[in-house]
Amino acid sequence: MNVLVTGGAGFIGSNFVRFALTAHPDWRVTTLDKLTYAGRLENLKGVIDDPRHEFVKGDVADPAVARPLVTAADIVVHFAAETHVDRSIMNAGEFITTDVFGTFVLLEAAREAPRLRKFVQISTDEVYGSIPEGSSKETDELRPRNPYSASKAGADRLAYSYWATYQVPVVITRASNNYGPQQFPEKVIPLFITNALDDRQVPLYGDGLNVRDWLHVSDNCRALDLVIDAGTPGEVYNVGGGNHVKNVDLTRRILQLLGKPDSLIRPVADRQGHDRRYSVDTTKLHALGWKPRVAFEQGLADTVSWYQQNEWWWRPIKEGDAAFQAYYTTQYGDRRG
Ligand code: NAD
Ligand code: DAU
Repeated sequence: MNVLVTGGAGFIGSNFVRFALTAHPDWRVTTLDKLTYAGRLENLKGVIDDPRHEFVKGDVADPAVARPLVTAADIVVHFAAETHVDRSIMNAGEFITTDVFGTFVLLEAAREAPRLRKFVQISTDEVYGSIPEGSSKETDELRPRNPYSASKAGADRLAYSYWATYQVPVVITRASNNYGPQQFPEKVIPLFITNALDDRQVPLYGDGLNVRDWLHVSDNCRALDLVIDAGTPGEVYNVGGGNHVKNVDLTRRILQLLGKPDSLIRPVADRQGHDRRYSVDTTKLHALGWKPRVAFEQGLADTVSWYQQNEWWWRPIKEGDAAFQAYYTTQYGDRRG
């Protein structure tokens, strides 16, 4: 079985590559990744030299690179994307190029791929937009409200159209907020852990009452494995951890785990168009036999420990990477509460 993983040097992709090689001794995995600021070869430490794994540096939006890899694949798991909402608010261009056009390039190749059994489009719960109460079902209308989620909604529906029109065996997952090891320290959990470890303030947006549903990355990997095996082409599957937490409570838990005071919390101006709450109904995936295994308290404690023990991984990004520092200054420098 040849499995092509796009974006496999990023957070979820690299966790999935490691999971897949362990769970499936008969799989050969090819990682296609452009190595943007978020893609890091260190994330594939321990698997990069596995004889069943090949790494290809390249852009999903480049047909010359993408087409032969899709043609040789039995399974495509398409993670590659620009993923950070705040960056999409600053500049949406790359989100359109990679998330929408890149998906189009892969789908075009998939139309003629002779061995392809599944094309897993990694979408997101953000495509539903904010839901004040209850949970979004797969059949609900999509109401994305920021450039990132709008580009993901475009890719999500484009992938579906290739099933409906050309019978490309597309399945779509819409997961909630993932957390765990190797998440880039621009996202709230790793940013707050690593700031607090250095006794730096943590910038909490708005009133801190926005709600996210936290899903451990290992539970998402298991969900994807199941969808590859048992998902029906043309269908969408929500994936959610069932851990709905207000940002302020999440922040206090992180500080508590680190033994740091709440006075490190710095309330800052809200994200523009900040979605208040996400929640997905996971009945459909439960019916396939999946449920999350990682309890949030334990998963968060393990994640905090991972960042404590793996300073070699994050400190060079936060201190040695001029591009990250420029991003941080623009995003937070003179941001007031
Ligand atoms: P990430 O930003 O950590 O990694 C993205 C990866 O894609 C990086 O390795 C990057 O180098 C690569 N990439 C970017 N542009 C590329 C291009 N043009 N060609 C090839 N590779 C490219 O992202 P993540 O958090 O691991 O998210 C992975 C996927 O899961 C994305 O599609 C995202 O929309 C989706 N998702 C993420 C979450 C979450 O909470 N992190 C939740 C739901 C869905
Ligand atoms: O819901 C799934 C989505 O989760 C994925 O599709 C995205 O790729 C992923 O980035 C994530 O999006 P969010 O915007 O929810 O994640 P982020 O970590 O950026 O923010 C989580 C919450 O924390 C959100 O309500 C904004 C808030 N926040 C974030 C940052 C970076 C802060 O209060 N301060 C911050 O500095």
